[in-house]
Amino acid sequence: MVNEIIWDRRVPSMGGSTRSFSSVHDNIGFFVKETKYYFDIDAVRIPYDEETKKARTRSIFVGKKWLEMGYNPKDIWSVARIHAQDPERTDHPTQKPLEILARMVLASSPKNGIVLDPFMGSGSTAVASILNCRNYIGFEINKKYCQLAEDRIKEAENNLFNCSNINKALDKSAVGMREPLNTQATLLE
Ligand SMILES: C[S@@+](CC[C@H](N)C(=O)[O-])C[C@H]1O[C@@H](n2cnc3c(N)ncnc32)[C@H](O)[C@@H]1O
Repeated sequence: MVNEIIWDRRVPSMGGSTRSFSSVHDNIGFFVKETKYYFDIDAVRIPYDEETKKARTRSIFVGKKWLEMGYNPKDIWSVARIHAQDPERTDHPTQKPLEILARMVLASSPKNGIVLDPFMGSGSTAVASILNCRNYIGFEINKKYCQLAEDRIKEAENNLFNCSNINKALDKSAVGMREPLNTQATLLE
């Protein structure tokens, strides 16, 4: 295991407990098979805001690569869980935000690489893969969720090619350079 990442969901799912500290995090394991594993930190850097950039205008900071490229994410990821009114929201009880999955996909797979999610749920991993020019393979045992995933996948592909609703997870530079997807969503019976 390379990292244990804490996903801080910011708001507890069930309103919180008054008899203990409310649980507001999930654990994400970053595992590798070999010591020479793929990892692209530059793909997931977080841009500095304008205020921070301005505050670093002293000559020693001018032209510093990291100031332009942004900072590297740490092992605590603070991303709000998907609220009921969120446009991303589907009818899956444990749907994960695209922002979380896009970071995993971008850091750990190359463009046109293949991402595997054996527990697809609402298809968030597939959507994050499509929007970031990766292929994917996924499995989902529940027919209803499998259909949900397929609908989201179609929508993501339409949005990508129409450019009508480009998601924040989309790597814009890759639009138009993308090779045909070799996608697969499988229903396990
Ligand atoms: C935690 S949810 C995944 C949520 C998903 N990441 C998302 O954002 O929507 C796990 C999913 O795995 C599915 N599942 C459970 N056992 C499975 C199995 N043996 N094969 C395939 N899918 C399975 C469940 O039906 C559930 O939808």
